[in-house]
Amino acid sequence: MNSAAHEPAQRLRALVTGAGRGIGRAIALRLGEEGALVACAARSEHEIERVARAVDDAGGRGAAIPMDVTDLASVEEGVHRALEFTGGAFDIVVNNAGVFSVHAFDAMSPATWYRTLAVNLNGPYHVTLMSLRGLEQSERAHLFNISSIAGRQAFEGNAAYCASKFGLRGLSDVLRLEWAARGIRVSTIYPGGTDTTIFDDVPGDWDRSTMNQPADVADVLWAAYLAPHDANVADLDVPNPRLA
Ligand SMILES: NC(=O)c1ccc[n+]([C@@H]2O[C@H](COP(=O)([O-])OP(=O)(O)OC[C@H]3O[C@@H](n4cnc5c(N)ncnc54)[C@H](OP(=O)(O)O)[C@@H]3O)[C@@H](O)[C@H]2O)c1
Repeated sequence: MNSAAHEPAQRLRALVTGAGRGIGRAIALRLGEEGALVACAARSEHEIERVARAVDDAGGRGAAIPMDVTDLASVEEGVHRALEFTGGAFDIVVNNAGVFSVHAFDAMSPATWYRTLAVNLNGPYHVTLMSLRGLEQSERAHLFNISSIAGRQAFEGNAAYCASKFGLRGLSDVLRLEWAARGIRVSTIYPGGTDTTIFDDVPGDWDRSTMNQPADVADVLWAAYLAPHDANVADLDVPNPRLA
């Protein structure tokens, strides 16, 4: 049989940052299961290569896009390559790449503050700036910003992380207003603790058995994408039911 017979008429076109591990990987695979073209961006090339092949195996088509979201030139080049892969449009862009650390304010180095803001807030700014022309080419464009429960609520030791994630919410809220007339939807997702490598190097007593799974966040994202265009999908919580 002609393999073209299996090709969906129109595949969804997506860019996911931080796609090499954790929540970003789960989102890439979820979109792959829906048959999407998924541009998988991060710095660790062996990880995004592996995820891109897993997207293929899931039924979509993946491409590994090396990108450091803190570096505008790297983002510009990566988004350019991603748009070549998708044919010039993005239906879904996910600002997911992020870092996390815990320090009391007076024990936190300026380098930690700058790094956290660079990845978690400047990163989404860079990716959104460069991706807008791709989103504008879609009939059903949706930007997702992965904030955190720490983007709604303060936690001790999270000065930089909370500032970055509250800031990301502010960016989302402004873009939602500015882009409403263009039909581009903007959602902020606030996951609770999720079992990923983000905790590997963070001292603390993390009980991963009570945490969400990365796929829980991917399921919320996909449900929001499918929601009717006039549905309110602005702020999406993914709480920890096991912590109730
Ligand atoms: N896990 C949780 O409990 C939790 C809860 C709430 C919100 N979140 C948020 O969810 C997002 C994903 O977290 P996760 O838990 O899945 O983390 P993770 O397992 O540590 O994965 C982080 C991903 O981000 C990428 N990344 C980090 N710095 C980057 C940079 N400068 N440029 C490009 N990519 C970069 C990493 O790849 P490279 O290092 O190879 O670049 C990796 O693919 C983050 O924004 C995080 O704040 C997580």
